[in-house]
Amino acid sequence: MREEIISLKNEAIAQIMETSSISELENLRIIYSGRNGKLTSLIKKLKEFPKDKRKQVGILINETKNSLNQIISSQKNKLSSSSRKWFDPTIPGIKPKLGNLHLVTKAIREISLIFEKIGFVRVRYPEVEWGYFAFEALNMPKTHPARDEWETFFVDSKLNSKFGQTVLTPHTSSGQVREMLRVKTPPIRMINIAKCYRRQSDVSHTQMFHQFEGLVIDKDISIINLKGTLDYFAKNFFGNKRKTRLRPYDFRFTEPSFEVDISCDICNGKGCKLCKEGWLELGGAGMVHPNVLKAGKIDPKKYSGFAFGWGVERTYMMKSGIKIPDIRFLYSSDLNILKQY
Ligand code: DAH
Repeated sequence: MREEIISLKNEAIAQIMETSSISELENLRIIYSGRNGKLTSLIKKLKEFPKDKRKQVGILINETKNSLNQIISSQKNKLSSSSRKWFDPTIPGIKPKLGNLHLVTKAIREISLIFEKIGFVRVRYPEVEWGYFAFEALNMPKTHPARDEWETFFVDSKLNSKFGQTVLTPHTSSGQVREMLRVKTPPIRMINIAKCYRRQSDVSHTQMFHQFEGLVIDKDISIINLKGTLDYFAKNFFGNKRKTRLRPYDFRFTEPSFEVDISCDICNGKGCKLCKEGWLELGGAGMVHPNVLKAGKIDPKKYSGFAFGWGVERTYMMKSGIKIPDIRFLYSSDLNILKQY
């Protein structure tokens, strides 16, 4: 009998705790401790017991009934206080969190659009590239010291081909010869925006960054076309007052080669505390070297072209008003930083 009472009690408690409404609870009260309930019917069975045991069992049944009643009333309190929660319909709702595009994605979209408006076609080439397209095809033979500047990551691969080793693209210029081989006959107006990799990490370098590379090849293309395109980009991306200037430089894949500067937005090219000389350095450009045209199976006697390649992050940081103290923040995944831009 004792075990029967205890298992009845446990069964009742389990069900009481599960209830979610007062009416459910009332039903259980009737089933277990009501006038015709399970515990009451046990009391009726007491007559069958020997007299000396009746008292003990009777006490146990009563105690059980009392403790079930207590549990039922505390569950009742719980249910009625939660249903009485005060609701104020005038409180403004909780706004859903809205995401936004990463700064670099926004920059890439803006840059693509500016060039697409004047007929450039956005292309993509492999991120894991043959050394040939990154260097030899760009007039940098195997042992040329200029290659050191690209701080290249080499991929440890068993693949061996006439194109040499595999590398992580150190610059988007590796798309130049690929594009010439794809299009075959000019005109070419390519804009290649892609991830690049170099073994450098400090306030102004990340091991993975982005570049955008323009390449135009056609008949009678000259420096005038290059300068016009760069000025068009500067005005559209940085603002109407900005100008570009070309400074002689040396790249193996362009001849002549230039570094492109943009007029400082604070002093307009006159020179100030920030820029010192009035100009800020943007990136490289030049007239495509005949050897590069030849690597792309294009006749340098018939065609000429210009190219330029700049860092997306760097260029975006030069846009007025956006100053990022450490370029590595862009890839830190820290939303508190990213949300500011
Ligand atoms: N690829 C060069 C770099 O990563 C940048 C560059 C210079 C690209 C001159 C060009 C160019 O297309 O003509 O530093």
